[in-house]
Amino acid sequence: VTFTVEDHDGNRQNIEAPDDMGLSLMETLKAYEYPILATCGGMALCATCHVEVLEGDKELGNATDVELDQLENLPEYFPTSRLACQIRISPLLEGAVIKLRGEDN
Ligand code: FES
Repeated sequence: VTFTVEDHDGNRQNIEAPDDMGLSLMETLKAYEYPILATCGGMALCATCHVEVLEGDKELGNATDVELDQLENLPEYFPTSRLACQIRISPLLEGAVIKLRGEDN
């Protein structure tokens, strides 16, 4: 599956990821060396993997209650905010545009 990632500086890159390995979007972004802390290791507890879905949000669906619990604690989140660790790499991501919103260090 191919989708686009926008970093904190607004630079966009197309990413190709296998959609049959059960990887999360967070793991994939880390593999591409994007600055995502993922302190909780993907347990939906830290929100450092916060991303905003700029395009493709209808396909991906809304944040789950588990995600909202974390997102609501952030100083800022958006109508299509998600936790990247809670998004599986699947064909639903084809053509999506994902913007990094987590801490960039
Ligand atoms: Fe901690 Fe996603 S990695 S909430």
